[in-house]
Amino acid sequence: MNAITRLATAVSLASLFPLAASAADDKGTIEVTHWWTSPGENAAMEVLRNQVKADGYTWKDNAVAGGGGSTAMTVLKSRVVAGNPPGAAQIKGPDIQEWAKAGYLIPDNGLDDVAKENNWDTLLYPTAAKIVQYGNHYVAVPFNIHRVNWLWINPEAFKKAGIAKPPTSLEELYDAAAKLQQAGITPIALGGQPWQDSTLFESVVLAVMGPEGYHKSFVDLDQATLTGQKMADAFAALKKLAGYMDPNRSGKDWNLTTADVINGKAGMQPMGDWAKSEWTAAKKVAGKDYLCVPFPGTAGSYTYNVDSLAMFNVKNKGTLAAQRDVAKIALGTQFQTVFNQNKGSIPVRNDIDMSQFDSCAQASAKDFAEASKDGGAQPSMAHNMATNLPVQGAVFDVVTNFINDKNADPAKAAQQLGAAIKAAQ
Ligand code: GAL
Repeated sequence: MNAITRLATAVSLASLFPLAASAADDKGTIEVTHWWTSPGENAAMEVLRNQVKADGYTWKDNAVAGGGGSTAMTVLKSRVVAGNPPGAAQIKGPDIQEWAKAGYLIPDNGLDDVAKENNWDTLLYPTAAKIVQYGNHYVAVPFNIHRVNWLWINPEAFKKAGIAKPPTSLEELYDAAAKLQQAGITPIALGGQPWQDSTLFESVVLAVMGPEGYHKSFVDLDQATLTGQKMADAFAALKKLAGYMDPNRSGKDWNLTTADVINGKAGMQPMGDWAKSEWTAAKKVAGKDYLCVPFPGTAGSYTYNVDSLAMFNVKNKGTLAAQRDVAKIALGTQFQTVFNQNKGSIPVRNDIDMSQFDSCAQASAKDFAEASKDGGAQPSMAHNMATNLPVQGAVFDVVTNFINDKNADPAKAAQQLGAAIKAAQ
């Protein structure tokens, strides 16, 4: 063997060895961009991570902290622009369509086959199935259904403040807040971040306008509704509620405000049911240690938020196999149960036995089924279900500027909302 051939053999063996070594115990790697970093969210994600690993794949975690996911979406965009997309990313709602339209998600990576083999068309709630398909092909994997219009209550705090029962209308909510304040308890726990401000705002709009007005505002983006008197009323209600929040809430994470309610520093939190994941992680029991009620004035309506992982267009065979594995795991009966018990959401499959879930999840499943029949189920604006991200960003800006400005005028804010949405469309 001459020197050149010897060198060539050595180089090719060296490059083969690492591959051979990892191929023996690793069927492929999937990197996943997501924002499930709170203790409760992490516990749910761990259920998925463990199963993927048990199936022989390597999970590379690209967790980007920041509830609601705005930071994660910024990171994702820059990775894709740099030509370095992850195997999967938490992308939701109409945004999935935009990524698919731009050619980044693959309709032919085998997701359709997994879906067919596992009966997704029959098992998935139609609302969810529609969201994760592009041109009749599955491009993302749905995990759950979160309800956004909830209010989480510490019953001990209510007792101390002499509040007899959970509020069922905005008037009763103001009343309860005033009593908590008198008792020296922060009435409403809400972190000061745009997505949190708008999470409350959309529930207030739902309470003031009902599901039709909500739909006209955030799905139809109807200018007359966006700038009308009822929208001004919603801003006025938001202002009133902001007066009952911790003045030092700026930038505070949602799970830290949940902790304030858990330990009785605050009385209630308007938040989607991922908040329940924190109560669960703290070993608290629904209906005993905490109460969940529809956001006051919105019983009968249901703002939904479906979490999903979109699968990116990659060439690596191992990653493609791992993508299909994630898809297979996600819709499994056992996984749907354990994951959603940890996450606070309800299964995205319509045939899961809900008797294994707590009273809040059981109420959520029942309310979702009922609200879906008569237009009461509406996509969450604050959680990327109703609009694309530029329109959502326009709403976030107007709402957060309004909530932080004590002198802001509700009627003017409604006009600004209409104008900002028009400009973003
Ligand atoms: C939502 C997401 C939920 C939850 C929440 C807070 O947008 O859908 O799963 O994690 O953000 O991070």
